[in-house]
Amino acid sequence: MIEYENLAKLNQPFFKEYQEKYLEVIESGWFILGKQVKNFEEAFAAYCGSKYCVGVANGLDALTMALKAFDFPAGSEVIVPSNTYIATILSILNCNLKPVLVEPDLKTYNIDPGKIEEALTKKTVAVMIVHLYGKCCAMDNIVKICNNHNLTLIEDCAQAHGAKYKGKKAGSFGDFGAFSFYPTKNLGALGDAGSLNTDSETLFKKISMMRNYGSEKKYYNEIAGFNSRLDELQAAFLSVKLKSLDQINTHKRNLAVLYSQGLKNDFIKPAVDPDFFDVFHIYNIRHPKRDELKEYLQKHDVKTEIHYPLPPHRQKAMAGVLVKQEYPVSEEIHATTLSLPISFFHSENDIQFVIDKMNSF
Ligand SMILES: Cc1ncc(COP(=O)(O)O)c(C=O)c1O
Repeated sequence: MIEYENLAKLNQPFFKEYQEKYLEVIESGWFILGKQVKNFEEAFAAYCGSKYCVGVANGLDALTMALKAFDFPAGSEVIVPSNTYIATILSILNCNLKPVLVEPDLKTYNIDPGKIEEALTKKTVAVMIVHLYGKCCAMDNIVKICNNHNLTLIEDCAQAHGAKYKGKKAGSFGDFGAFSFYPTKNLGALGDAGSLNTDSETLFKKISMMRNYGSEKKYYNEIAGFNSRLDELQAAFLSVKLKSLDQINTHKRNLAVLYSQGLKNDFIKPAVDPDFFDVFHIYNIRHPKRDELKEYLQKHDVKTEIHYPLPPHRQKAMAGVLVKQEYPVSEEIHATTLSLPISFFHSENDIQFVIDKMNSF
């Protein structure tokens, strides 16, 4: 059986260093906001090409606090892709703002920059883009639109650690890059974790307070904050894995090449473009008989996933939230997409096995 993911196997190469770090942290007796968090923040900011990084509790909190930092008036509009994971949209709702869903480009699955301008109104205050599946959005146009219209730009980088557009890393284009280190991510912790990256000293200081009850000095609260701190243990584990992030990404990119070269052309494969350095958090294909294909693969010892089976606008949680209800591009993607195994622990032989099964469908 080729598993879709196995977190024990994925983390196996790091076990020894994790154990050493675990002992170091528990013996230090310092578990919240200490040197492990600081070291990770500095290393991850440097990795991403950002001036600052603030470790937080998870990706959803990162996105929520990024928006909160701007104190937008309630009801202001935030542009977001219609095919994202629900967390991106929830962060907008968490801040009493209005999500305005914009359709993706069917070739890249990322927000269609051409459609952003059509969706702008006087109430638009921010654009929240998502580098989905590990491919950066086409940032030139998006940055230009945000600059021209004086809009805040927040990047949801939960699936794009180390991904690049024209040589520049995800998370370094906008006012904030928001990361999730959920265990399955390319840079995954052993529990929940996240970060916000920024080049602005003012925003860095604000988020550093906001994650810690709005406090810089203990028991003195400047703003109404959250308890959303990255903990020392997760930071220590993340520092271990960060050293191998490029190796993880290279491995996944190599497996993606095998798929793209080996799979027959009945499957719509991820777009390849030299401007984009993709890190394949997810390797998806599309096929009109997706459900049948998934079942066929399951019967032939290959486990797959669907990212995602139900688009955000069809979720019960979104009832009454969105004005527009028709998102045909998003519908098409959700009905046809299938994610193939592409973990750090998979071998080239594993992928060849999947390719052979796929090609006999
Ligand atoms: C695109 C996207 N945004 C946000 C999140 C939320 O991150 P977290 O689960 O750490 O809250 C995730 C992953 O879970 C994600 O895939």
